[in-house]
Amino acid sequence: MRPAVVRRLRAGAVLAIVVVAVASCSSTDAGTDRAEAGSSTTTPATTTSAPAPDGVAGADGVGDPYYPQLGNGGYDVAGYDLLIDWDADAATIDATATIELTPDEALDTFNLDLVGLAVDGVTVDGADAPFERAGRELTIDPEPVLLAGEAVSVVVDYGGAPEPIQVGTDVFRVGWHTDGRDAYVVSEPAGAASWFPANDHPTDKARFRFEVTVPADLGVIANGVRRSVTEDAGRATFVYESDRPMATYLASVVIGDLAFDESTAAGLPLRSAYPHRLADAARRDFGRVEEMLVAFQERFGPYPFDVYGHVVVDEQLGFALENQTVSLFGTDLVTGGARIDSLVAHELAHQWYGNAVSPATWKDIWLNEGFATYAEWVWAEVSGERSIAESAAAAHGRADFGVPPGDPGPEELFQRTVYVRGGLALYALSVQIGQETFDELLRAWVERHGGGVASTADLQALAEELSGQDLEVFFADWVYGSSLPPLP
Ligand code: ARG
Ligand code: ZN
Repeated sequence: MRPAVVRRLRAGAVLAIVVVAVASCSSTDAGTDRAEAGSSTTTPATTTSAPAPDGVAGADGVGDPYYPQLGNGGYDVAGYDLLIDWDADAATIDATATIELTPDEALDTFNLDLVGLAVDGVTVDGADAPFERAGRELTIDPEPVLLAGEAVSVVVDYGGAPEPIQVGTDVFRVGWHTDGRDAYVVSEPAGAASWFPANDHPTDKARFRFEVTVPADLGVIANGVRRSVTEDAGRATFVYESDRPMATYLASVVIGDLAFDESTAAGLPLRSAYPHRLADAARRDFGRVEEMLVAFQERFGPYPFDVYGHVVVDEQLGFALENQTVSLFGTDLVTGGARIDSLVAHELAHQWYGNAVSPATWKDIWLNEGFATYAEWVWAEVSGERSIAESAAAAHGRADFGVPPGDPGPEELFQRTVYVRGGLALYALSVQIGQETFDELLRAWVERHGGGVASTADLQALAEELSGQDLEVFFADWVYGSSLPPLP
């Protein structure tokens, strides 16, 4: 799902890459096994004896400045339908992915991202299609050539034991994790390819349907609205659907011994899932989400999806992740002491900033984390703890932030500067353009770019449009400058 505005952004992003790659040679590998792939943007040719095809080989990456091979070129995915059968004893999946996609141009071959696992077969509109694998690239050679603008249905039969993926020096590997019986997915930024064949970049959002079958004593939660739960011969099948466009990195399935909570807050259906022994503590720790929803809808605009909730996975994760409609937390965060309000607010705010509006490239990660940090300060003010200005002053005093939030580098995407200096840049912007215009910006950002992606340049453009100011120097200092400017 890629509106015209996103296509234009993408073209801009591709140009930006060249500059970054030449200037800093900072592009790294987002996969475990594709170090050899370098910056090549062509697909390995598939040898056939057929007459010369009319289509081109779809590119094997969208050219993200940090992770050039994430995603693929030449087509746009409308929907993923993922059928997953979980063997809890073997810790393996037996899966079928049905992917509706539309080529932008005539395609002789095209790629999906998939790491590990075994592919048993691929069909395109029902016809068997030969395929090859190399690193994270699954290259499919459909017959006949795909036509520009004509949607096709690609079915990939696959399975095995999914393995999470190391990205740079991240403290955590991303993708599908399991301890044998339970499983959960945390993919940001590049882990989706560990469990399904994907156009794995935020620029290609799509709708998702999950049909997950597990032993009947386990539960499943995934993104979106639950459509059904059925049981047959000791196995339970859970169906979830996300109709609103979702980036692949936010797709998540959690399987475990889960207690489900359903309620309504601020008119929105909530569904959460916790390990049974933590359910009481979790209810206390997430207890203020309704107040947060009210406060954030007032400031950020309507909640952008159909459902929300929290899932706690039985693992000392050390962080939380804003998976679309169902934020994920590790057990270490859930104590029952209601001490994680700012984190709960942070993940909720990502539903607007990060999920409805996703980063155009991974270099724009501060747009996710800076807005979510600013939202923590909003919550602290709303809940009577301290003003936004006090939070900003405290953050400013705590830190030595030599790395610009607008270019943290691909090795350590989630370093503190993208959060704290990101939040400070937004606070400084609110002073620069005035609180009223900034509040307008918070809503206009989601109205204008919701359902797609946006870049730092888009934020500057919108802030300039709403304020009538030239913000070139402001962005150069606060977002790209190598030292933290003094607070205004
Ligand atoms: N986006 C998450 C948050 O700030 C953090 C994800 C950290 N992920 C990681 N791979 N280190 O809420
Ligand atoms: Zn965050």
